[in-house]
Amino acid sequence: MKTKKIAVYPGSFDPITNGHLDIIVRGLRMFDELIVLVAYNPNKSSLFSVEERMDLIRLVTQDLDGRLRVDCSSGLLVDYAKSQGANVILRGLRAVSDFEYEFQMALINRRLNRDVETVFLMTGYQWFYTSSNLIKEAAGLGGSVKGLVPDVVLERLEEKFRTR
Ligand code: PNS
Repeated sequence: MKTKKIAVYPGSFDPITNGHLDIIVRGLRMFDELIVLVAYNPNKSSLFSVEERMDLIRLVTQDLDGRLRVDCSSGLLVDYAKSQGANVILRGLRAVSDFEYEFQMALINRRLNRDVETVFLMTGYQWFYTSSNLIKEAAGLGGSVKGLVPDVVLERLEEKFRTR
């Protein structure tokens, strides 16, 4: 019997962007199941709560097929992957500047669990220079980030900064 290929796509997703969504859609073509994991550090501050981030991910992926799950964890990523029977960590790579950090993470994760492989997808060129942090900064200063995030995320960002 063929074993299911389950991948975990971890990130802060504060908030989810169109770049993340692109990786999710492409990841679903490669794996039997994809778990989008909000990996959070309780000591780190974020704009959106873990529940809000998971909610937004669910909202913007609701039309994708049922092989996608959304979850959260504050523990070690490789331990989470093992608990789900996943042997792949999926990450998107943008500019060369991502490379060193991603390389370090892939190496430490491999050291922690050699059964889990990190797989990288090059981001779509439209999303090459965007990140959740830059999007938050621009939106917080009143700049338009339309087209960089799904419309519902745009609304939530506007709400957040209106009520601050
Ligand atoms: O979207 P980000 O902020 O670039 O994602 C980074 C993330 C959440 C994937 C990374 O910090 C992570 O894997 N955190 C979970 C804790 C962990 O296992 N760290 C790596 C080994 S020390």
